[in-house]
Amino acid sequence: EKDGHDWFMRKEIFEQPHAVADALLGRHTAGGRLQLDEMRLSEQELREVDKIIVIACGTAYYAGLVAKYAIEHWTRIPCEVELAHEFRYRDPILTQDTLVVAISQSGETADTLMAIRHARTQGSRVLAICNTNGSTIPRESDAVIYTHAGPEIGVASTKGFITQLVASYLLGLYLAQVRGTKFGDEIAAVVDELEQMPVHIQGILDRKDEIYALAAELKDARSVLFLGRHAGFPVALEGALKLKELAYIHAEGFAAGELKHGPIALIEEGLPVFCVVPPQGRDQLHDKMISAIQEIRARGARTIMLAEEDDPAVAPYADSVIYLPRVPVLLQPLVAVVPLQLFACQLASNMGHDVDQPRNLAKSVTVE
Ligand code: M6R
Repeated sequence: EKDGHDWFMRKEIFEQPHAVADALLGRHTAGGRLQLDEMRLSEQELREVDKIIVIACGTAYYAGLVAKYAIEHWTRIPCEVELAHEFRYRDPILTQDTLVVAISQSGETADTLMAIRHARTQGSRVLAICNTNGSTIPRESDAVIYTHAGPEIGVASTKGFITQLVASYLLGLYLAQVRGTKFGDEIAAVVDELEQMPVHIQGILDRKDEIYALAAELKDARSVLFLGRHAGFPVALEGALKLKELAYIHAEGFAAGELKHGPIALIEEGLPVFCVVPPQGRDQLHDKMISAIQEIRARGARTIMLAEEDDPAVAPYADSVIYLPRVPVLLQPLVAVVPLQLFACQLASNMGHDVDQPRNLAKSVTVE
């Protein structure tokens, strides 16, 4: 049942090319025009939306952070992201024109469920991004985008996360299509990029041994940091969460720009720091990330860079590099998260931990 893998988690990591392809299946025409079957909200209703609030917990929340970058960029609709358990208790501003997007792999997370119930009492519409057909959250929502990842057994979310990203991109592009904030050919171009993701992800999985070697090398780490910017920031948070929950190692993710506001004080000789380097390009994101990396390396950090395969700027400051395919910055999480999942899985497995059932955790958290 594990297809020859030692853990469900590893099996599910390796299923990701397939899962991404399934998440895209039947959702667009050859010309890239999107059609979302279970959308159930009319185009008119979607045109009336004046604010989006994404609510979720854990890994699904990190998918929500990526969703915000994509949705605001493509649609110009203000989008907030909030932890479901915080949202409900702070008297959030909700109207009929607020679209609440609940992201949940299981569809049974109590915190997220309570938050959508609250949103509906305020007259807001709720759209679920969910992996589990017929689960409670989609049943209690006005619309749903199923992620079609197939059952996720490992407690650590992997293919669940990656397909939540795909569904979030589809939602953002669909809203842009309905509201006319992007031209059809621009949407089709992003859909094209998404279609290439299974091949890109497979390319990274084929290089698993590099990442396993890194896990062996870093087996004695007591603390690991993760840095990112833009859509790479949630990836850093996710890399840290995976390491905490599986390897029980102290790990933290930061936005690289925040380093100088405090966290750089943590850097000491030999501290492993994973750095998600933005694609080289038009804006200054990439160069700013490289200068942050210079700063931490000068203070003794052991840098592990995740960077584009033809990026000449990384080698001088990298103790290790994991190369990523060239993709647009908003889609980079789909490829950048994969090495971090493999790393956490391998390290935890080497340490003798139960990778599928980490201590103190349950697959779905059905209590508030
Ligand atoms: O089923 P959900 O997506 O609602 O679950 C949310 C979180 O509990 C979940 O992502 C959790 O953080 C995972 N164990 C992370 O790997």
